[in-house]
Amino acid sequence: MTTAHAAAVAAIEKHTFAEPWSEKQIAEICGKYGVVARVCEDENGDVLGYYSYNTVCGDGYVNNIAVREDVRGKGIGKQLMRDMTYTASLYGLNGLTLEVRSSNVCARGLYESFGFKSAGVRKKFYQNTEDAIIYWLDVGGNDNFKQN
Ligand SMILES: CC(C)(COP(=O)(O)OP(=O)(O)OC[C@H]1O[C@@H](n2cnc3c(N)ncnc32)[C@H](O)[C@@H]1OP(=O)(O)O)[C@@H](O)C(=O)NCCC(=O)NCCS
Repeated sequence: MTTAHAAAVAAIEKHTFAEPWSEKQIAEICGKYGVVARVCEDENGDVLGYYSYNTVCGDGYVNNIAVREDVRGKGIGKQLMRDMTYTASLYGLNGLTLEVRSSNVCARGLYESFGFKSAGVRKKFYQNTEDAIIYWLDVGGNDNFKQN
C-alpha cells in the first residue's frame, strides 16, 4: 500500500466499518516503520482489498482487512490472508493477533481456515455493545522462516 492507494482504501473503510480510518490515517501508515500494509489490485490498478498490521514485540497486530463489497466471496480475502501470513513468516514474527466482532461469521470462518485460534473475549468492545473475539495465529518466528 502506498499513499496513492489511500483514497480508495478509505472509501472501502467508510463503506465497511462503523469506525472507519480516514484517508489521512491510512496515508500515515504507508511506508511507516514497523507497519506492513498491502493491497490487492485488479489489472487496472483499482483496489479490491487490503490489510495492515503493526509489528509489536515480535507479533503482528492486525489493524484491518477488508475486500470491496462488490467483489467479496471470490477468494480475495483468502489471497490477502495468504499474503499476510507469508509476510509475517518472512519477517520472522512469532504470531499474528486480531479482534473481530463475535457476529462476523464470515471473517471468523476466514481466520479459522488459516489456523487462527480464539484466545479470549473482550466484552462490549465495539461501541460498548458487541463482544470482540481475540484470535491468535502462531507464525513460528525465525524458526519457521529457516524451515522455508
Ligand atoms: C472478511 C472478508 C475480508 C472476506 O473476504 P472475501 O474476499 O469475501 O473472502 P473469500 O471469498 O476469500 O472467502 C474466504 C473464506 O471466508 C469464509 N467465509 C466467506 N463467507 C462466509 C460465510 N458466509 N460464513 C462463514 N464463512 C465465510 C470462508 O472460510 C471462506 O472460505 P471458503 O470459500 O473456502 O469457505 C470480507 O467479507 C470483508 O471485507 N468483510 C468486511 C470487513 C471485515 O469484516 N473485515 C474483518 C474485520 S476483523
